Amino acid sequence: MRLIGASCVFTCNSQSTILENGSVLFENDPQSKTNKILDIGDFNQLRAKYPQAKSTFYNHCALLPALSNTHIHFEFSNHRSQLTYGRFSSWLESVITKRDELFENLDEAIQNAINEQLQSGIVNVGAISSYGYDIQSLSQSPLRVVLFNEAIGSNPEMLDALFGFLNERLEETKRLKSETFYPALAIHSPYSTHYTFAKKVAHLAEKENLKISCHFLESKEEKQWLEKRNGWFFDFFVRFFGQKNPSPSTNIDDFLALFKNLSPLFVHCLFANQAILDKIAKLNGFVVSAPRSNRLLNNTYLNLGHLKQSGLSLIVGTDGLSSNYSLSLIDEIRSAFFGYSQMEIEELAKDLVLSITLFPANALGIPNGELAKGKLADLAIFKCPDIANSKQKHTHFVLHAHQKVKKLYINGVGVHYANHL
Ligand code: BEZ
Ligand code: FE2
Repeated sequence: MRLIGASCVFTCNSQSTILENGSVLFENDPQSKTNKILDIGDFNQLRAKYPQAKSTFYNHCALLPALSNTHIHFEFSNHRSQLTYGRFSSWLESVITKRDELFENLDEAIQNAINEQLQSGIVNVGAISSYGYDIQSLSQSPLRVVLFNEAIGSNPEMLDALFGFLNERLEETKRLKSETFYPALAIHSPYSTHYTFAKKVAHLAEKENLKISCHFLESKEEKQWLEKRNGWFFDFFVRFFGQKNPSPSTNIDDFLALFKNLSPLFVHCLFANQAILDKIAKLNGFVVSAPRSNRLLNNTYLNLGHLKQSGLSLIVGTDGLSSNYSLSLIDEIRSAFFGYSQMEIEELAKDLVLSITLFPANALGIPNGELAKGKLADLAIFKCPDIANSKQKHTHFVLHAHQKVKKLYINGVGVHYANHL
């Protein structure tokens, strides 16, 4: 047993309860794969109650459940300057033309990205794997990984081969399944994954009870293509895929219907109106937002009022380095905090803290993300000077938490990671 205390304990329960001079007692059996939180409360009281537990108090610090990044592309970690920002269309064209450069020295870039996740206090990742290049590195990392094997391909003649490739990768991830590695599936998007292919993938997810994720309505170009069947994507499929008279293989409603019974993670949804968000809520779906990626590619942010109106919770992820400059969730919510300038400060800060803890852990189906008895002992301590004196503790955390974690516990055990970034 181990007792850790801090100036402020953010329980990240649905009421956003904070304990001042709080603490968490947890199991730390090196033989166990499922060390759990045993108790939570005032540091001095728990120290008196459990005198046998080794205890440490972190002053000027915030203790949170370790963070969850539900949407990241490790395979695109090599990007620095190859891609074009400012318009989704220009960015997608640059991804296709610069693809080869992006995969040079990939193993090292993936390892750096894994280290950056750990250094940023992240335990859970929803890794979108397009090729399988990240599978081995992630399975050997201390992270808890939901490995979303991704289906992409709009050419109907290629579908059997692409489905075979997807199945090979899925089988590889199934062989690696463990308490920290969960096989899953992704459909890249309704414009890039042929409907017939997407349907097969959705059926597979249902049959094998796998989590599923999908980019959805990220750009206005995508919405126009799916709804009006014209616009920039027509020209894109002619120029890049040699199609004569391209048309989308699905529409918004038929596509959404594929996810019945699957509680999907829909990523971006920037151009989903209230009716579409209502449909996602009806599917018991989750919406993941990547604000910095959205600003760089689409010059806009998700409408949080509409999200709330549909009864959906905010989940924030970083996306990959192909549309971001860091993989830190503290960076991500700090940036979002300034993007939503119309919202009340402390309420927004509360939503942002839960958007990287409670809600994403629920979406990934991993029993952590909240400091409560029975949850996995995955904890992150961030230096946060003077938080004890703040009257707006969530805001103070969003503004002042050090981006690099002071101490990270995964499964009750302190994590050591390369610190050379
Ligand atoms: C494809 O592989 O068919 C594809 C990839 C990206 C965008 C659109 C289509
Ligand atoms: Fe993405």
